[in-house]
Order: sequence, then C-alpha cells, then structure tokens
Amino acid sequence: MPARMIRLSPPEVPLEAARKRIGDVLDSGWLTNGHQVVAFEEALAARLGVRHVVAVSSGTGALHLMLVAAGVKPGDEVIVPGYTFPATAASVVHAGAEPVVVDVLPGSANIDPAAVAAAITARTRAVMPVHQFGLPCDWDRVAAAAPGKLLVEDAACALGARFGGRACGQLGVAAAFSFHPRKMLTTAEGGAIATDDDGLAAELRLLRNHGMEVEGGVRRFRLPGYNFRLSEIHAALGLSQLEGLDAVLDARRQVAGWYAEALAGLPLDLPPDPATAPHTFQTYAVFLRAHEAAAVIAHLIRAGIEAGHGAEALATLGLYRTAGPTPVSLDFRRRHVALPLHSKLTHADVKTVAAALSEALA
Ligand SMILES: Cc1ncc(COP(=O)(O)O)c(C=O)c1O
Repeated sequence: MPARMIRLSPPEVPLEAARKRIGDVLDSGWLTNGHQVVAFEEALAARLGVRHVVAVSSGTGALHLMLVAAGVKPGDEVIVPGYTFPATAASVVHAGAEPVVVDVLPGSANIDPAAVAAAITARTRAVMPVHQFGLPCDWDRVAAAAPGKLLVEDAACALGARFGGRACGQLGVAAAFSFHPRKMLTTAEGGAIATDDDGLAAELRLLRNHGMEVEGGVRRFRLPGYNFRLSEIHAALGLSQLEGLDAVLDARRQVAGWYAEALAGLPLDLPPDPATAPHTFQTYAVFLRAHEAAAVIAHLIRAGIEAGHGAEALATLGLYRTAGPTPVSLDFRRRHVALPLHSKLTHADVKTVAAALSEALA
C-alpha cells in the first residue's frame, strides 16, 4: 500500500475558522436551539434565494420531514429515480407512503421524464427527482411529465448547483439538502429543507422540535413531532464554510477540467457538464464503456487511490417496487467509478489517478 492515499472526498472545512467558531459555541454554554442555527439558516436562505431554510440533523431527516410537511401520507405513491443513495426511497417509507422506482437517463444518471410520465397513477402524490452527484436534473421536463403533482427535490448533493439560472433548492415546492462530510459543505451530520412556502416552513419547524411552540415562556405541543434539531456546534461548523463555498465550487470545477484532459482517449465517458445546468461535481463519476467498476475500484485502491461506486441501483436492494425495468440504473451501478475530487487535489494527483486508471483499463 503506498504511503499516501489520494482521498476520494475529504471534508472541505477551513480548520482554523471552524475551530474558532466551535470554540465560541462551547464558551457560550449554549449548545442547542440558539443563534448559530438561526444564522446558518438565514445565510443559507440568502445563498439559495429562498424565503426559508429549516436546518435538521441529517439529509435523510430533511427528506422525511419535507415529505410529511408537504402532506405526503399513507396510501400515496412518490416517484423516485432508480439510481440514487437509498435514503431517497427510504424517506418516502418513513413518511408512510410508497416509493415507486423509475429508471434514469443514460448520460446524466438523472430521473427519466418519460419514465415518470409512464409511472403516474391515481395514487401518485409526488415526484422527488435527485440532482445526482451535483448535476441538476432536467427539471422543466420532469415538471411537464407530472402535471398537478407535488414536486420536491432531493438536493442532497446539489448545494451550489443551478438549473437555467435558478438554484437547485428553489425549483420544487421544497428541497432537501445533506451536509454529510462528503457534501460541498458539511456540518459532520446535518441537513436542511429550503422552501418559499411560509406555511410549510412553519410546519417543518414544529415537526423538527417535538411539535412544540414556546410563547412567553409557555410551551404548547401542537402535534406529535420529532427531534430532528441541528445542534449549535454543527451549525457553527456549517457557518465556517459558507464564505468559502464559491472558492470550493470553482476549485472543484478546475479539478474536473484537469480530469477531462487527463482521461481523454480512455474507454470511458466523462460526467456531462451542460452549459445551462453545469455540474458541481459533488461526486466525479466516470462511466466505463467495457469494464466492470468493481475490478477497477479494487485496482485503484491497491494503487493508493480511494475510489468507489457512484450510487445504488434501487432495484437490486429488494426493498422497493419498480414501475418497470430499470436497465440504465443497473448499468450505472455496474460501470460507474467515483474518482477522488476535492478542492485540495493537485494537478499531479489527477495525473496519478489517470495513470492508475489507464493501467486498470489496459
Ligand atoms: C441523493 C441523496 N439523498 C439523501 C442522502 C442522505 O443524506 P444524509 O447522509 O445526510 O442522511 C444522500 C447522502 O449521501 C444522498 O446522496
């Protein structure tokens, strides 16, 4: 094993700034339900161009609360893409509804609008596309495929992404983000829901905090809520990264540009990067035309390069109903390789990864 591993996606945390902010929270003695969460929510709302952001303890919690607050209930169907992290579908089950899995498009790996249209039934309440790996889905075509249905975004990977000038996060009635360490911005664990709907935001705030309202020191429990709160420490960690977010996004695009040069000529397809909906490269996954991902990943790891599969094909899990066959999703699971990509990766690192990949494909 080489002395130095080239990491897949280490957290993009400015350590000094984060230590200072977290230290200040500890000194304050106020660890939850305080100013840091409010400041984090306000800064994110400004960044996304939405009226409300409600911070919660994970991306999965954000998806779950978003669906419940938007009125998804037992008996409903929610259409989700077949190639994603399983939390997309699991959150629908948590809301008491049934996920219905449809295929994704070759190329983008995002939900196929034609498959959405074909899967709509009288029970379809919502469609929840994913902006996979930080590449916006074709929102307008998805919306046109599901007239009258509730549209919500799984924007777990899509902080900073824009579709035709609109931020991912303001496309649907609501959008859920994740702040897991592999995301563009991390709170260690955490997530948030973005929405312009005042009533929905109020419901989300109730649901995340035991259904409780406090007025003049008097507590009232309005509904049986959850505890999905984000702590002050986690919010402070998130706040430490907001200022540098654009620099991180730019650096990651530069690394992707180096990859495009270094991988040219290899038997693989690069991630698409359309001008009207650019890729943010939360994950940089290449599609192998003639090789299986598993063997190539094993080769890269032996060479000291952390690599992995992209997402999961939900049809293989045996947990969720598919509306029809999902061959494209299965193919992505078999042939997608996620390569190291983060803002500190050097041009020399990219050349090392490309050389090892070329060797694996030889
Ligand atoms: C598309 C998608 N949805 C949901 C999640 C769940 O987010 P979390 O890990 O913060 O619960 C993830 C996490 O990787 C994801 O990639």
